[in-house]
Amino acid sequence: MPPSFRFATPEDHEVVVQMLHELVIELGPAEGADRLRARLDEDIRLALTSPNICIILAVVEGEAVGLGRADVLFADPIFRLRDDNRCGYIDQMYVRPAYRNQGVGRDLLERCEDWLRGRGLGHVLLHAAPRAVHFYEREGYLPNREMFKRL
Ligand SMILES: CC(C)(COP(=O)(O)OP(=O)(O)OC[C@H]1O[C@@H](n2cnc3c(N)ncnc32)[C@H](O)[C@@H]1OP(=O)(O)O)[C@@H](O)C(=O)NCCC(=O)NCCS
Repeated sequence: MPPSFRFATPEDHEVVVQMLHELVIELGPAEGADRLRARLDEDIRLALTSPNICIILAVVEGEAVGLGRADVLFADPIFRLRDDNRCGYIDQMYVRPAYRNQGVGRDLLERCEDWLRGRGLGHVLLHAAPRAVHFYEREGYLPNREMFKRL
């Protein structure tokens, strides 16, 4: 059965956090992963009430099977001196394994982009997990200048 899509509300806090725990586990042991998981609870509580963030759920027969998140950033250094210093940011893309490779991730991503477009945003950034690079490239994302070094 194809999923339906809707905006998450504060009532969805538990299932959103649960899916993000699954995402953190799947992306593997990383420095600080435990602290990150501990902070998800509050991060999602804030996200679900912020007018500058949306979390979109994919739902099949009443069960959430995936999510995507879009934030409006106001302080990205690339854009801070432009007339419109805002930038979209996509994060927390996750589809439960049984529902992958059926276009659910693409639909979630497009809905996040639509939400940002609807706020007048003309750019979107994200940081891809290495294994998801192909997924984002297929949807038109390109490397753009950012470089990274641990200090
Ligand atoms: C990335 C993800 C959201 C895509 O969801 P999806 O519903 O499978 O996406 P679609 O069906 O629209 O697209 C399928 C594409 O996803 C990618 N994909 C498939 N399995 C994947 C996996 N386990 N991890 C990452 N990407 C995957 C492939 O590029 C695939 O394209 P291909 O068939 O040309 O190889 C989903 O695979 C997932 O939740 N992965 C684990 C978490 C993750 O990596 N999230 C992104 C963090 S930046």
